[in-house]
Formats: sequence, structure tokens, C-alpha cells
Amino acid sequence: MDDKITLWNVTIAPTHKCNLRCRDCYSNSGSNSERLDDTTIDTLLEDATKTWPSLLFFTLTGGEPFIDDIALNIARRHPDKYFQVYTNGLLIDERVAENIKELGNITPLISVEGWGIETDSVRGKGTYEKVNNVMNHLTDLDLFWGISFKLTSQNAHVHDEGFVDYFISKGAQCGRFLTYMPTGRGSDLLKVPSTEQRRRQKEVLERVDPSFLTVDYINNPTELLNGCAAAGLRYVYVDPTGDVHPCVFMPNSARFNLKDVYAGVHKAENVENLNDMLLKDSTMRRVRKEARKRSQERCCMILDS
Ligand SMILES: C[S@@+](CC[C@H](N)C(=O)[O-])C[C@H]1O[C@@H](n2cnc3c(N)ncnc32)[C@H](O)[C@@H]1O
Ligand code: SF4
Repeated sequence: MDDKITLWNVTIAPTHKCNLRCRDCYSNSGSNSERLDDTTIDTLLEDATKTWPSLLFFTLTGGEPFIDDIALNIARRHPDKYFQVYTNGLLIDERVAENIKELGNITPLISVEGWGIETDSVRGKGTYEKVNNVMNHLTDLDLFWGISFKLTSQNAHVHDEGFVDYFISKGAQCGRFLTYMPTGRGSDLLKVPSTEQRRRQKEVLERVDPSFLTVDYINNPTELLNGCAAAGLRYVYVDPTGDVHPCVFMPNSARFNLKDVYAGVHKAENVENLNDMLLKDSTMRRVRKEARKRSQERCCMILDS
């Protein structure tokens, strides 16, 4: 089979800096303040869109992308690109919300872990109430926004309590449904949801109002997503040091750092852009090979061994 890279999404963590220190955070954010420089981010955005004209959108994650206005500034520098931004929501005050509205190329995905009890126990006391207020404000401004929910063995019950419908009634128009990965700070295998809990999430999402856009890559990979997308099969992750990982949840990265690649350090090896790096790096090649072998139903090589 041809080993071809087709990116639909590039996920970038511009910083590990964060105003929270959530218990489960896979990226250990808040413990350090690494930051990818603007030149590398801008070069990456231009490189990726030039190489893959069908690239649909970029994702900003972290760390907290709204810290120091990082996400706003990236979106402002690239008005022709669209950014889906995972956020803890706490830094979206009136000014930031007005900026999001004015820019028009950001969809904030506000993270909640369930109701107040579940959210505050992971993200800190008072977080749930604050993000509910932020959501009200975004809805009042008529903005397109969504939620991000990470399924664990400890919060799976909220799917039987009308959790998704509640956020739809608040004005959420889309949701990203992640599944807890036992990696990073507080890694705990017991928090991984059971097959039954994962199946239940899939069932609930199949029944929600069809105008609410749901994405659950791992438990409900649709025809469009077509199973594991890692390592350049449709997506790739760039961390705040410029290291490129097959997936946000995989700590192993490519041998080539993106800052070095764009500085011409690997020119002699014919690695001058993201495509070259993804094609030539052995870690990326190995992950693509494994991903292609997997069925759509059991696509995740971390969770579904
Ligand atoms: C790392 S955060 C960064 C963006 C932002 N600070 C936030 O909290 O949304 C991105 C998303 O990853 C989720 N996440 C964090 N740790 C995770 C883990 N161990 N497994 C699965 N998802 C995780 C968070 O709940 C959040 O929705
Ligand atoms: S999950 Fe988000 S808000 Fe929480 S520590 Fe990690 S980066 Fe910060």
C-alpha cells in the first residue's frame, strides 16, 4: 500500500501553560510553561494548508489556548483558517468572547467532566458554575460553541441523567467526546471506562438531536473518520516544544523536531516540511502501519489492544 499522508486536521498545543492543574491532564499542563514560538506556528499553518488543500481545520489545545490571548492572536494572524479550540473556559470573559465573535474563525469547546460534582472534583471547586456562566454569555452573543467531555469510569453515569441534552438546552451546538487515556498526571487504569460504558456513550450520542454535531473518534468512528487517524493518516499532533506526535495521547514523538525542520537542520536528509517528516520518520511509519491493520470498531491502539 502507498504510504501517503493526507491531513484533515493538525492539532497544536501552543503552550503547556495553564490556569488550572486538572487531576487527569494527559499533557501535565500547568506544571511548566513551554511555548511554541509564533514563527514556527505560522510556518506550520502555511506549510500544512499548502501541502494539503483539503485540510479542514486546525485544533488548538494545550495547556490553555486562551492564556495570554494565544488562540486569539493565532486566529487573528490567520483569518483564512478555522480553529477549533479546546478550553477550560475560565479565561473567556466579555472581552475574549467579543473577540471570538469579531474574528469568526474560532469554535470554543468548553471542557466539562459531567455535572458540578464531577467537573469540580477534576478541575477545581467552583469551575462548573463559572463555565456555565461563560456558556450563557456565548449563547447570548449567538456564538457557535460546544463542549468537550472526557468519559471515565467515574463519570459515565451522567449519560443516563440527560447530561448532553442539558448542554444542548444551554446552547451548545457541538460536542467532542473523548475517552480517558491513562497517561500523564494522575494516570490511573481504574479510570478507563468499561466497554459497556463506552458502548452506552455511543448509544446516547446516536440519539441526540441531529443538529448537535457529535464527534467521538474512539467509540463511534464514522465512515468519515474511518478509524484511527494518527501519524498522518488524517491527523497529527504538535506539542509546545515543536515535537510531533502521532496522536495527543502518545508520548513518543518523531525524531525530527519541527523547529529544526523549518530551520533547515535536516535538509541534507531531504526533510524540509511536515509531509517529509511524517513520511520519513520511523515512529510515524510504524504507527501508520499498525493503524491501517485495525478494524474501525477497535481502532484505538492504546485502549483496544
Ligand atoms: C488537555 S486539555 C487542553 C485544553 C484546555 N485546557 C481544556 O482543559 O479543555 C484538552 C482536552 O483533553 C481532555 N483530557 C485531559 N486529560 C485527558 C486524558 N487523560 N484522557 C482523555 N482526555 C483528556 C480535557 O478534558 C480536555 O477536554
Ligand atoms: S485539562 Fe486543560 S485545564 Fe486542565 S490542566 Fe490540562 S490543560 Fe489545563
